[in-house]
Amino acid sequence: MKPKIIVYKKVDKKVLEFISETCKVIYFEKLDSESYPVFLEELKDAQGLLGSGLKVDKELLDQAPHLKIVCNIAVGYDNLDLTALTKSGIMATNTPDVLNDTVADTIMGLILSTARRIPELDQWVKNGQWESGLEEKWFGVDVHHKVLGIIGMGGIGSAVAKRAHFGFDMEILYHNRSRNEGAEETYGATYCSMEELLRKSDYVCLMTPLTPETVNLIGKREFELMKESAIFINASRGKTVDEEALIEALQNGRIYGAGLDVFVQEPVQKENPLLSMKNLVTLPHIGSATHETRFKMAMTAATNLVKGIQGEMPPNLIKK
Ligand code: 8YV
Repeated sequence: MKPKIIVYKKVDKKVLEFISETCKVIYFEKLDSESYPVFLEELKDAQGLLGSGLKVDKELLDQAPHLKIVCNIAVGYDNLDLTALTKSGIMATNTPDVLNDTVADTIMGLILSTARRIPELDQWVKNGQWESGLEEKWFGVDVHHKVLGIIGMGGIGSAVAKRAHFGFDMEILYHNRSRNEGAEETYGATYCSMEELLRKSDYVCLMTPLTPETVNLIGKREFELMKESAIFINASRGKTVDEEALIEALQNGRIYGAGLDVFVQEPVQKENPLLSMKNLVTLPHIGSATHETRFKMAMTAATNLVKGIQGEMPPNLIKK
């Protein structure tokens, strides 16, 4: 009998076909108040789980006595309680590397959009307000030849450094738990303290995973260390930034602007003051959201699942 697994996120049918060769698939395009009770029922004898965003903790695991593996369609795994999973002997996997270039493109897009005020001017032109020559008040700031500070020089951080170094002649500073010699040699990246990075960077790009150590990593003190002309970019997780402190820094002109792909609460609430700020570009967590990359991520997760369910070592096992 094929092992039963649950896919709780919309994926390409080729992914489902691949998994179905090995497993009996219970498929939910999304989990909502209607499908969640059915999901919990199916969980009782499921051996595998594949999707992203679902909080997988002791409470959920207590309802899944046969679970062997949990596969995230994401590089981030802050939704997984690794202690509870390890205690229950359940494997967990993620999808690193396949999304690095796509997320790095999103970040360069945020940097260019914020620096050159592209969304704002796009709206201005579409509103029919471009009636004569361009006044200085609409000017932006340069990206090329500026200093880019990358906090978290992992796979995505390195892909950003590559674009910034070779594509925009930017000087790269980085702060990370460990040195990244590859980025230093290939992109001329300079390792420095967080404080030095915040003081010297024209663009501060946050790319750390969300862990107990990185919650509110960037707060009031960090924004006060930044240049008044600095632009802050966050495409990691919303909770790595103290959103109140960011709102204050943008309102008081403490920094020039910001570009956000992630928020403390997603979807971001309509009444969130961030949404009324001119010097802020916002995106709905599209970091890896291209057809090509999401397909690769789903196939990577599916491969992890099938290997794990068959008792083999999944390629992207998360080690606690
Ligand atoms: C995911 C992401 O698509 O990979 C990650 O960590 O944040 C995105 O690529 C997102 O988590 C889906 O919910």
